[in-house]
Amino acid sequence: MTSPFSGQPGEYMPQPGLGAPAGGGGGQVAVAVVDADQAARSRLAMQLGQGATPFPSINDLASRLGSIPVVVVLGPSFGASPELAAVEQLLAARRDVGAIMVTSELTTDMLQRALRAGVKDVLAAPVETTQLAEAVARVAAGLIMAAPNTPVSPTVEADGERGRVITVFSTKGGAGKSVVATNLAVVLAGRASRPVALVDADLQFGDIAVMLKLSPQHTVVDAVGALDKLDLPLLQSLLIEHQPSGVKVLPAPLEPAFADQIGAPEMVRIVEMLRQFCSFVVIDTPAYFNDVVLGLIEVSDDVLLVAGMDIPNIKNVKIGLQTLRLLNTPMEKLRLVLNRANSKVKLDVGEVERTLGIQAEALIPSDIVVPQAVNKGEPVVLSAPKSGVTQSMNQLADLFLPQTSNKRRRR
Ligand SMILES: Nc1ncnc2c1ncn2[C@@H]1O[C@H](COP(=O)(O)OP(=O)(O)O)[C@@H](O)[C@H]1O
Ligand SMILES: [Mg+2]
Repeated sequence: MTSPFSGQPGEYMPQPGLGAPAGGGGGQVAVAVVDADQAARSRLAMQLGQGATPFPSINDLASRLGSIPVVVVLGPSFGASPELAAVEQLLAARRDVGAIMVTSELTTDMLQRALRAGVKDVLAAPVETTQLAEAVARVAAGLIMAAPNTPVSPTVEADGERGRVITVFSTKGGAGKSVVATNLAVVLAGRASRPVALVDADLQFGDIAVMLKLSPQHTVVDAVGALDKLDLPLLQSLLIEHQPSGVKVLPAPLEPAFADQIGAPEMVRIVEMLRQFCSFVVIDTPAYFNDVVLGLIEVSDDVLLVAGMDIPNIKNVKIGLQTLRLLNTPMEKLRLVLNRANSKVKLDVGEVERTLGIQAEALIPSDIVVPQAVNKGEPVVLSAPKSGVTQSMNQLADLFLPQTSNKRRRR
């Protein structure tokens, strides 16, 4: 067996059990122990069994990394050491390296510094062998789920820049929220520099997955269930990519009953994590106010109010607007999107704007290509790229993309 660490032939022996960690699907993962103190690293290496390779420093390890994913166990020396910066650098650069820290002073401060550096788990020394093995297996499983041996692409790193959160809302069912949210996300994904996430916050009856013909393995229920250990790689592994567009979808629960398990704080936390590596987080919502919707509106940069062009729609949107005002939602966040806005419907856009006291920033025509696309499970902007609907979706996206001329109509 050759070593996964180049230049160290023979030192590595895959440890039974770690090669195929729980839920990991059988990939191979190497284990390294790093501590400047020889005795400390030998102790940990012994605990981990023959599979673990000891290194005196992060740089030593970094120079020996091969193509096999590696779980790094950081010894107690890291507690006080500036090497944590080197750890952070390594973890940011290599998606196929995950780290655990064993520390003799498990303080909140220590924990925070370690987690901020990208360390997955912090254990108190002396650590029990089974506890250590479990932690290693957990991180190994995460590494196998992530794409192996690829450097983190600049698009999925959390670089401190926060993506823009756009919630699509309407107090009327069938107004076109899901159509707008889906197609806006697809257009943005084609033009943004970082990923675009689409969150289905219509927790009971969300149909984003159906609209994009996705069969999700994971939903928002899993993300909420894993919240206490949720980090960016884990969250990313729960998203399902809509291949044609690259949009990363967090689907609604598969059963309406699961909606009860999900509250506003959980949803907000997930969205805050998504915006760490996404240019945009687009959120689809149900047709009523609940705590989840209100929480999401609060953290959103933009709220698209979708109104169909008929009197009941306009009436409902007016009530919705009043509610938002009562809740002190900053009116600058709100952008009115008039859907099915054709001359044929005999409602004048200007009149609607006057009634609502807000100017429409996008007009989407009514077109048979929309239900056709919905029924095929394709976003209309991809299936009918030349349609007027696609054109207006592009104009809607222009509002959020800085490089385009400012076409926004402000009051
Ligand atoms: N601009 C449009 N032209 C034609 N049909 C549309 C348009 N927008 C939406 N629809 C149709 O209306 C239905 C409801 O839209 P949807 O986005 O699911 O509404 P909501 O999410 O607000 O309940 C969709 O199945 C779609 O076929
Ligand atoms: Mg919907």
